[in-house]
Amino acid sequence: MALRAKGRDLSSLLCRHAAARVAAAGNRGMASGHGLDPAQTPLQQQYIDKEEKYGAHNYHPLPVVLNRGEGIFMWDVDGKKYFDFLSGYSAVNQGHCHPKIIEAMVEQAKKLTLTSRAFFNDTLGEYEEYITQLLGYDKVLPMNTGVEGGETAIKLARRWGYDVKGVPKNQAKILFARENFWGRTTSAISSSTDPDSYEGFGPYMPGFEIIPYNDLEALQQKLEADPNIVAFMVEPIQGEAGVVVPQDGYLKKAQELLHKHNALLISDEVQTGLCRTGKMLCSEWDMGGARPDITILGKALSGGTMPVSAVLANNDVMLTIGRGQHGSTYGGNPVANRVAIASLKVLVEEKCAENAARLGPIFRKELEGIGSPLIQSVRGRGLLNAIVVDPEAGVEAWDICLKLMKEGLLTKPTHRNIIRLAPPLIINEEQLHQATGIIQKVFSQLK
Ligand SMILES: Cc1ncc(COP(=O)(O)O)c(C=O)c1O
Repeated sequence: MALRAKGRDLSSLLCRHAAARVAAAGNRGMASGHGLDPAQTPLQQQYIDKEEKYGAHNYHPLPVVLNRGEGIFMWDVDGKKYFDFLSGYSAVNQGHCHPKIIEAMVEQAKKLTLTSRAFFNDTLGEYEEYITQLLGYDKVLPMNTGVEGGETAIKLARRWGYDVKGVPKNQAKILFARENFWGRTTSAISSSTDPDSYEGFGPYMPGFEIIPYNDLEALQQKLEADPNIVAFMVEPIQGEAGVVVPQDGYLKKAQELLHKHNALLISDEVQTGLCRTGKMLCSEWDMGGARPDITILGKALSGGTMPVSAVLANNDVMLTIGRGQHGSTYGGNPVANRVAIASLKVLVEEKCAENAARLGPIFRKELEGIGSPLIQSVRGRGLLNAIVVDPEAGVEAWDICLKLMKEGLLTKPTHRNIIRLAPPLIINEEQLHQATGIIQKVFSQLK
Protein backbone atom coordinates (compact mmCIF):
# COMPACT_ATOMS: atom_id res chain seq x y z
CA MET A 1 0.00 0.00 0.00
CA ALA A 2 1.40 3.40 -0.95
CA LEU A 3 1.86 5.64 2.10
CA ARG A 4 -0.21 8.78 2.01
CA ALA A 5 0.27 12.09 3.77
CA LYS A 6 -2.76 14.34 4.21
CA GLY A 7 -4.30 12.82 1.09
CA ARG A 8 -1.13 13.12 -0.99
CA ASP A 9 1.19 10.44 -2.25
CA LEU A 10 4.06 10.33 0.28
CA SER A 11 6.67 9.41 -2.30
CA SER A 12 6.11 12.61 -4.27
CA LEU A 13 6.21 14.60 -1.03
CA LEU A 14 9.50 12.97 -0.06
CA CYS A 15 10.95 13.73 -3.49
CA ARG A 16 10.02 17.36 -3.11
CA HIS A 17 11.60 17.58 0.35
CA ALA A 18 14.72 15.83 -0.88
CA ALA A 19 14.99 18.22 -3.82
CA ALA A 20 14.69 21.19 -1.47
CA ARG A 21 17.42 19.79 0.73
CA VAL A 22 19.67 19.08 -2.24
CA ALA A 23 19.21 22.65 -3.41
CA ALA A 24 20.14 24.01 0.00
CA ALA A 25 23.00 21.66 0.77
CA GLY A 26 26.72 21.58 0.20
CA ASN A 27 28.23 20.42 3.46
CA ARG A 28 29.65 17.33 5.14
CA GLY A 29 29.29 14.97 2.23
CA MET A 30 25.55 15.15 2.16
CA ALA A 31 23.45 15.68 -0.93
CA SER A 32 25.07 18.76 -2.36
CA GLY A 33 23.25 19.70 -5.49
CA HIS A 34 25.59 17.67 -7.69
CA GLY A 35 23.63 14.45 -7.78
CA LEU A 36 25.93 11.45 -7.97
CA ASP A 37 28.94 11.83 -10.23
CA PRO A 38 29.78 9.02 -12.65
CA ALA A 39 32.37 6.51 -11.48
CA GLN A 40 35.84 6.39 -12.99
CA THR A 41 35.33 2.84 -14.32
CA PRO A 42 32.38 0.49 -15.04
CA LEU A 43 33.51 -1.79 -12.20
CA GLN A 44 33.30 1.05 -9.68
CA GLN A 45 29.94 2.10 -11.12
CA GLN A 46 28.55 -1.34 -10.26
CA TYR A 47 29.41 -0.89 -6.58
CA ILE A 48 27.98 2.61 -6.55
CA ASP A 49 24.76 1.48 -8.24
CA LYS A 50 24.25 -1.22 -5.62
CA GLU A 51 24.65 1.27 -2.75
CA GLU A 52 22.32 3.64 -4.53
CA LYS A 53 19.67 0.95 -4.92
CA TYR A 54 19.78 -0.62 -1.46
CA GLY A 55 21.19 2.06 0.81
CA ALA A 56 19.68 5.23 2.22
CA HIS A 57 20.67 8.34 0.31
CA ASN A 58 22.04 10.30 3.24
CA TYR A 59 25.59 10.73 1.93
CA HIS A 60 27.07 12.16 -1.23
CA PRO A 61 30.44 10.43 -1.63
CA LEU A 62 33.11 11.18 -4.18
CA PRO A 63 32.76 8.56 -6.93
CA VAL A 64 35.62 6.29 -5.90
CA VAL A 65 35.25 2.74 -4.57
CA LEU A 66 38.07 1.75 -2.24
CA ASN A 67 39.07 -1.68 -1.05
CA ARG A 68 42.51 -1.32 0.54
CA GLY A 69 44.41 1.03 2.81
CA GLU A 70 47.96 1.06 4.10
CA GLY A 71 49.72 3.93 5.82
CA ILE A 72 48.88 7.18 4.08
CA PHE A 73 47.53 5.50 0.94
CA MET A 74 44.30 3.87 -0.22
CA TRP A 75 43.61 1.86 -3.36
CA ASP A 76 40.42 1.60 -5.41
CA VAL A 77 38.94 -1.68 -6.66
CA ASP A 78 40.77 -1.17 -9.96
CA GLY A 79 44.11 -0.98 -8.16
CA LYS A 80 44.66 2.78 -8.50
CA LYS A 81 46.59 4.30 -5.57
CA TYR A 82 45.61 7.52 -3.79
CA PHE A 83 47.03 9.77 -1.11
CA ASP A 84 44.43 9.89 1.66
CA PHE A 85 44.05 13.55 2.63
CA LEU A 86 40.87 13.12 4.62
CA SER A 87 41.97 10.33 6.98
CA GLY A 88 38.38 9.34 7.70
CA TYR A 89 37.70 12.87 8.95
CA SER A 90 40.82 12.58 11.16
CA ALA A 91 40.07 9.08 12.46
CA VAL A 92 43.06 7.53 10.70
CA ASN A 93 45.79 9.69 12.27
CA GLN A 94 48.03 6.63 12.70
CA GLY A 95 47.66 5.60 9.04
CA HIS A 96 45.51 2.86 7.55
CA CYS A 97 45.65 -0.62 9.06
CA HIS A 98 48.52 0.20 11.38
CA PRO A 99 50.06 -3.22 12.14
CA LYS A 100 50.27 -2.64 15.91
CA ILE A 101 46.63 -1.54 16.13
CA ILE A 102 45.40 -4.38 13.91
CA GLU A 103 47.41 -6.89 15.92
CA ALA A 104 45.93 -5.64 19.19
CA MET A 105 42.47 -5.84 17.66
CA VAL A 106 42.84 -9.34 16.22
CA GLU A 107 44.52 -10.78 19.30
CA GLN A 108 41.81 -9.48 21.59
CA ALA A 109 39.02 -10.48 19.15
CA LYS A 110 40.22 -14.07 19.36
CA LYS A 111 39.97 -14.04 23.16
CA LEU A 112 37.00 -11.96 24.32
CA THR A 113 35.06 -9.24 22.48
CA LEU A 114 32.19 -8.16 24.71
CA THR A 115 31.25 -8.62 28.31
CA SER A 116 28.97 -5.58 28.54
CA ARG A 117 29.51 -3.55 31.67
CA ALA A 118 27.35 -6.02 33.57
CA PHE A 119 30.68 -7.66 34.44
CA PHE A 120 34.27 -6.55 34.77
CA ASN A 121 36.85 -7.47 32.16
CA ASP A 122 40.63 -7.61 32.34
CA THR A 123 41.28 -4.80 29.81
CA LEU A 124 39.18 -1.84 30.90
CA GLY A 125 41.08 -0.82 34.03
CA GLU A 126 44.38 -0.96 32.16
CA TYR A 127 43.00 1.24 29.39
CA GLU A 128 41.45 3.68 31.86
CA GLU A 129 44.73 3.98 33.75
CA TYR A 130 46.70 4.50 30.54
CA ILE A 131 44.49 7.15 28.97
CA THR A 132 43.89 9.16 32.14
CA GLN A 133 47.59 9.26 33.00
CA LEU A 134 48.54 10.14 29.44
CA LEU A 135 46.03 12.97 29.20
CA GLY A 136 46.04 14.25 32.77
CA TYR A 137 42.53 13.56 34.04
CA ASP A 138 41.27 11.62 37.06
CA LYS A 139 38.76 9.55 35.15
CA VAL A 140 37.44 8.44 31.76
CA LEU A 141 33.99 7.34 30.65
CA PRO A 142 34.21 5.09 27.58
CA MET A 143 31.64 5.33 24.78
CA ASN A 144 31.65 4.46 21.08
CA THR A 145 30.95 7.24 18.60
CA GLY A 146 31.99 10.87 18.87
CA VAL A 147 28.42 12.04 19.12
CA GLU A 148 27.84 9.75 22.09
CA GLY A 149 30.83 11.40 23.69
CA GLY A 150 29.12 14.77 23.20
CA GLU A 151 25.85 13.45 24.63
CA THR A 152 27.75 12.09 27.63
CA ALA A 153 29.52 15.40 28.23
CA ILE A 154 26.19 17.23 28.18
CA LYS A 155 24.67 14.82 30.68
CA LEU A 156 27.71 15.21 32.92
CA ALA A 157 27.52 19.00 32.77
CA ARG A 158 23.80 19.04 33.50
CA ARG A 159 24.21 16.65 36.40
CA TRP A 160 27.07 18.69 37.80
CA GLY A 161 24.92 21.79 37.35
CA TYR A 162 22.12 20.36 39.47
CA ASP A 163 24.17 18.53 42.08
CA VAL A 164 27.11 20.89 42.54
CA LYS A 165 26.16 24.30 41.19
CA GLY A 166 22.60 24.08 42.50
CA VAL A 167 20.72 24.99 39.31
CA PRO A 168 16.94 24.54 39.78
CA LYS A 169 15.55 21.29 38.38
CA ASN A 170 15.45 21.11 34.55
CA GLN A 171 16.73 24.69 34.15
CA ALA A 172 20.34 23.94 33.16
CA LYS A 173 21.57 25.62 30.00
CA ILE A 174 24.50 24.69 27.78
CA LEU A 175 26.13 27.10 25.37
CA PHE A 176 27.42 26.10 21.93
CA ALA A 177 29.26 28.04 19.26
CA ARG A 178 27.71 28.99 15.95
CA GLU A 179 28.75 26.59 13.15
CA ASN A 180 29.55 23.85 15.65
CA PHE A 181 29.42 20.25 14.50
CA TRP A 182 29.31 17.33 16.86
CA GLY A 183 27.22 14.74 15.09
CA ARG A 184 23.74 13.81 14.01
CA THR A 185 21.67 12.84 17.05
CA THR A 186 18.60 14.87 17.90
CA SER A 187 20.58 16.68 20.61
CA ALA A 188 23.46 17.43 18.26
CA ILE A 189 21.20 18.88 15.60
CA SER A 190 19.36 20.88 18.26
CA SER A 191 22.53 22.88 18.80
CA SER A 192 23.34 23.15 15.09
CA THR A 193 23.14 26.39 13.12
CA ASP A 194 23.23 24.53 9.80
CA PRO A 195 19.71 24.10 8.36
CA ASP A 196 20.84 20.98 6.46
CA SER A 197 21.45 19.38 9.82
CA TYR A 198 18.38 20.47 11.75
CA GLU A 199 15.64 21.47 9.31
CA GLY A 200 12.76 19.01 9.22
CA PHE A 201 13.88 17.05 12.28
CA GLY A 202 12.30 19.05 15.12
CA PRO A 203 11.16 19.39 17.84
CA TYR A 204 14.52 20.26 19.32
CA MET A 205 16.24 19.72 22.66
CA PRO A 206 15.59 22.61 25.08
CA GLY A 207 18.28 24.22 27.21
CA PHE A 208 20.77 24.87 24.41
CA GLU A 209 21.89 28.35 23.40
CA ILE A 210 24.20 29.58 20.67
CA ILE A 211 26.91 32.24 20.78
CA PRO A 212 29.34 33.26 18.02
CA TYR A 213 32.59 31.27 17.83
CA ASN A 214 35.77 32.98 18.98
CA ASP A 215 33.81 35.72 20.76
CA LEU A 216 34.72 35.97 24.43
CA GLU A 217 32.59 39.02 24.94
CA ALA A 218 29.48 37.14 23.82
CA LEU A 219 30.39 34.36 26.24
CA GLN A 220 30.83 36.83 29.08
CA GLN A 221 27.49 38.53 28.37
CA LYS A 222 25.63 35.23 28.37
CA LEU A 223 27.28 34.12 31.59
CA GLU A 224 26.50 37.42 33.31
CA ALA A 225 22.88 37.29 32.18
CA ASP A 226 22.05 33.69 33.06
CA PRO A 227 23.09 31.91 36.27
CA ASN A 228 21.70 28.62 34.98
CA ILE A 229 24.44 28.17 32.39
CA VAL A 230 26.37 25.07 33.37
CA ALA A 231 28.77 24.67 30.45
CA PHE A 232 30.09 25.86 27.10
CA MET A 233 30.81 23.05 24.63
CA VAL A 234 33.26 24.08 21.94
CA GLU A 235 35.75 22.74 19.40
CA PRO A 236 39.30 24.13 19.87
CA ILE A 237 39.37 24.48 16.07
CA GLN A 238 36.07 24.15 14.20
CA GLY A 239 36.67 21.28 11.80
CA GLU A 240 33.47 20.82 9.82
CA ALA A 241 32.90 24.57 9.73
CA GLY A 242 36.00 24.71 7.53
CA VAL A 243 39.02 24.50 9.86
CA VAL A 244 38.30 27.77 11.65
CA VAL A 245 41.17 28.61 14.02
CA PRO A 246 40.26 30.97 16.89
CA GLN A 247 42.46 33.67 18.41
CA ASP A 248 45.34 32.48 20.59
CA GLY A 249 44.27 31.93 24.18
CA TYR A 250 40.57 31.53 23.31
CA LEU A 251 40.02 28.33 25.28
CA LYS A 252 42.04 29.48 28.28
CA LYS A 253 40.17 32.77 28.52
CA ALA A 254 36.85 31.02 27.94
CA GLN A 255 37.57 28.69 30.83
CA GLU A 256 38.54 31.61 33.08
CA LEU A 257 35.23 33.29 32.33
CA LEU A 258 33.31 30.06 32.80
CA HIS A 259 34.96 29.35 36.14
CA LYS A 260 34.27 32.88 37.31
CA HIS A 261 30.59 32.12 36.72
CA ASN A 262 30.79 28.59 38.09
CA ALA A 263 30.37 26.82 34.76
CA LEU A 264 32.37 24.19 32.87
CA LEU A 265 34.41 24.20 29.67
CA ILE A 266 33.69 21.16 27.49
CA SER A 267 36.31 20.77 24.78
CA ASP A 268 35.16 18.69 21.82
CA GLU A 269 38.41 17.19 20.54
CA VAL A 270 36.81 14.44 18.49
CA GLN A 271 38.40 15.88 15.35
CA THR A 272 41.21 18.08 16.70
CA GLY A 273 42.48 15.66 19.34
CA LEU A 274 45.15 12.99 19.34
CA CYS A 275 48.03 14.82 17.66
CA ARG A 276 46.12 16.15 14.63
CA THR A 277 47.04 19.78 15.31
CA GLY A 278 50.58 19.15 16.54
CA LYS A 279 49.82 18.49 20.23
CA MET A 280 48.25 15.45 21.84
CA LEU A 281 45.23 17.66 22.59
CA CYS A 282 44.61 20.81 20.59
CA SER A 283 43.63 22.57 23.83
CA GLU A 284 47.30 22.34 24.87
CA TRP A 285 48.12 25.11 22.39
CA ASP A 286 46.09 27.45 24.57
CA MET A 287 46.16 25.93 27.98
CA GLY A 288 49.56 24.31 28.43
CA GLY A 289 49.30 21.75 31.21
CA ALA A 290 45.87 22.94 32.37
CA ARG A 291 42.90 20.97 31.13
CA PRO A 292 39.37 21.84 30.05
CA ASP A 293 36.87 20.54 32.62
CA ILE A 294 35.64 17.91 30.18
CA THR A 295 37.40 16.66 27.05
CA ILE A 296 35.67 14.52 24.43
CA LEU A 297 37.70 12.21 22.18
CA GLY A 298 36.73 9.82 19.40
CA LYS A 299 37.84 9.08 15.85
CA ALA A 300 41.63 8.48 16.10
CA LEU A 301 41.23 6.82 19.48
CA SER A 302 40.88 3.63 17.46
CA GLY A 303 43.15 4.56 14.54
CA GLY A 304 40.20 4.20 12.18
CA THR A 305 39.36 0.62 13.07
CA MET A 306 36.12 0.82 15.05
CA PRO A 307 34.00 3.40 16.92
CA VAL A 308 35.74 4.24 20.21
CA SER A 309 35.09 7.48 22.07
CA ALA A 310 35.93 8.75 25.53
CA VAL A 311 34.91 11.50 27.90
CA LEU A 312 37.58 12.67 30.32
CA ALA A 313 37.01 14.69 33.48
CA ASN A 314 38.21 14.99 37.04
CA ASN A 315 36.43 13.38 39.98
CA ASP A 316 34.44 16.48 40.97
CA VAL A 317 32.64 16.34 37.63
CA MET A 318 32.81 12.67 36.66
CA LEU A 319 31.51 11.28 39.91
CA THR A 320 28.29 13.28 39.72
CA ILE A 321 26.96 10.51 37.47
CA GLY A 322 26.33 7.47 39.62
CA ARG A 323 26.01 3.76 39.02
CA GLY A 324 23.25 2.86 36.57
CA GLN A 325 22.77 6.46 35.42
CA HIS A 326 24.60 6.29 32.09
CA GLY A 327 26.18 3.68 29.86
CA SER A 328 26.40 1.82 26.59
CA THR A 329 26.48 -1.89 25.72
CA TYR A 330 29.66 -1.59 23.72
CA GLY A 331 31.38 1.24 25.60
CA GLY A 332 34.56 -0.07 27.22
CA ASN A 333 34.46 -3.43 25.43
CA PRO A 334 37.69 -5.46 25.48
CA VAL A 335 38.50 -5.02 21.79
CA ALA A 336 37.94 -1.26 21.99
CA ASN A 337 40.12 -1.05 25.08
CA ARG A 338 43.05 -2.91 23.51
CA VAL A 339 42.65 -0.96 20.28
CA ALA A 340 42.57 2.36 22.12
CA ILE A 341 45.72 1.55 24.12
CA ALA A 342 47.53 0.51 20.92
CA SER A 343 46.28 3.58 19.04
CA LEU A 344 47.48 5.96 21.76
CA LYS A 345 50.83 4.18 22.04
CA VAL A 346 51.40 4.47 18.28
CA LEU A 347 50.72 8.21 18.45
CA VAL A 348 53.28 8.60 21.23
CA GLU A 349 55.92 6.19 19.89
CA GLU A 350 55.79 7.49 16.33
CA LYS A 351 55.87 11.09 17.53
CA CYS A 352 52.77 11.98 15.54
CA ALA A 353 52.26 15.29 17.37
CA GLU A 354 55.83 16.37 16.64
CA ASN A 355 55.49 15.35 12.99
CA ALA A 356 52.22 17.27 12.58
CA ALA A 357 53.70 20.32 14.32
CA ARG A 358 56.78 20.25 12.09
CA LEU A 359 55.08 19.52 8.77
CA GLY A 360 52.05 21.80 9.24
CA PRO A 361 53.88 25.10 8.61
CA ILE A 362 55.85 23.55 5.71
CA PHE A 363 52.61 22.34 4.12
CA ARG A 364 50.81 25.67 4.52
CA LYS A 365 53.78 27.51 3.07
CA GLU A 366 53.84 25.19 0.03
CA LEU A 367 50.08 25.60 -0.45
CA GLU A 368 50.39 29.38 -0.23
CA GLY A 369 53.22 29.16 -2.74
CA ILE A 370 50.87 27.66 -5.35
CA GLY A 371 49.83 31.24 -5.97
CA SER A 372 46.56 30.41 -7.71
CA PRO A 373 44.04 33.27 -7.98
CA LEU A 374 41.43 30.67 -6.99
CA ILE A 375 42.98 30.27 -3.54
CA GLN A 376 41.60 32.89 -1.19
CA SER A 377 43.47 31.63 1.85
CA VAL A 378 45.17 28.67 3.46
CA ARG A 379 44.58 28.03 7.15
CA GLY A 380 45.01 25.43 9.82
CA ARG A 381 47.21 24.10 12.56
CA GLY A 382 49.47 21.05 12.47
CA LEU A 383 48.08 18.73 9.81
CA LEU A 384 44.49 19.95 10.04
CA ASN A 385 44.38 22.41 7.17
CA ALA A 386 42.09 23.90 4.57
CA ILE A 387 42.27 25.76 1.30
CA VAL A 388 39.54 28.38 1.06
CA VAL A 389 38.59 28.76 -2.60
CA ASP A 390 37.50 32.23 -3.68
CA PRO A 391 33.69 31.94 -3.73
CA GLU A 392 33.57 34.43 -6.62
CA ALA A 393 35.94 32.36 -8.78
CA GLY A 394 33.16 30.25 -10.27
CA VAL A 395 34.79 26.95 -9.32
CA GLU A 396 33.30 24.75 -6.62
CA ALA A 397 35.44 22.94 -4.07
CA TRP A 398 33.59 19.77 -5.07
CA ASP A 399 34.85 19.99 -8.65
CA ILE A 400 38.40 20.57 -7.43
CA CYS A 401 38.11 17.48 -5.22
CA LEU A 402 36.96 15.47 -8.26
CA LYS A 403 40.05 16.60 -10.16
CA LEU A 404 42.29 15.81 -7.18
CA MET A 405 40.75 12.34 -7.08
CA LYS A 406 41.53 11.77 -10.73
CA GLU A 407 45.13 12.81 -10.05
CA GLY A 408 45.40 10.43 -7.09
CA LEU A 409 44.61 12.49 -3.98
CA LEU A 410 41.44 12.02 -1.98
CA THR A 411 39.72 14.63 0.14
CA LYS A 412 36.30 16.12 0.55
CA PRO A 413 34.98 19.67 0.52
CA THR A 414 33.35 21.21 3.52
CA HIS A 415 30.92 23.95 2.52
CA ARG A 416 30.91 24.93 -1.11
CA ASN A 417 34.33 26.54 -1.16
CA ILE A 418 36.55 24.89 1.43
CA ILE A 419 38.83 21.92 0.83
CA ARG A 420 40.01 20.22 3.99
CA LEU A 421 43.48 18.66 3.85
CA ALA A 422 44.22 16.24 6.68
CA PRO A 423 46.60 13.39 5.82
CA PRO A 424 47.50 10.63 8.29
CA LEU A 425 50.08 11.98 10.72
CA ILE A 426 52.71 9.43 9.74
CA ILE A 427 53.23 11.21 6.42
CA ASN A 428 56.81 12.32 5.76
CA GLU A 429 58.10 15.50 4.16
CA GLU A 430 58.82 13.90 0.80
CA GLN A 431 55.31 12.45 0.58
CA LEU A 432 53.80 15.76 1.62
CA HIS A 433 55.79 17.42 -1.12
CA GLN A 434 54.50 14.91 -3.69
CA ALA A 435 50.93 15.49 -2.56
CA THR A 436 51.38 19.25 -2.79
CA GLY A 437 52.59 18.68 -6.34
CA ILE A 438 49.25 17.07 -7.18
CA ILE A 439 47.34 19.96 -5.60
CA GLN A 440 49.49 22.46 -7.49
CA LYS A 441 48.91 20.61 -10.79
CA VAL A 442 45.13 20.66 -10.32
CA PHE A 443 45.04 24.37 -9.47
CA SER A 444 47.27 25.22 -12.42
CA GLN A 445 44.88 23.31 -14.74
CA LEU A 446 42.05 25.44 -13.39
CA LYS A 447 43.71 28.78 -14.04
C1 LIG B 1 34.17 17.91 16.41
C2 LIG B 1 33.33 16.69 16.22
N1 LIG B 1 32.62 16.21 17.25
C3 LIG B 1 31.86 15.13 17.13
C4 LIG B 1 31.76 14.45 15.92
C5 LIG B 1 30.88 13.25 15.80
O1 LIG B 1 31.60 12.06 15.72
P1 LIG B 1 30.90 10.74 15.21
O2 LIG B 1 30.65 10.90 13.75
O3 LIG B 1 31.90 9.64 15.52
O4 LIG B 1 29.65 10.56 15.98
C6 LIG B 1 32.49 14.92 14.83
C7 LIG B 1 32.40 14.23 13.53
O5 LIG B 1 32.86 14.68 12.50
C8 LIG B 1 33.28 16.08 14.97
O6 LIG B 1 33.99 16.57 13.96
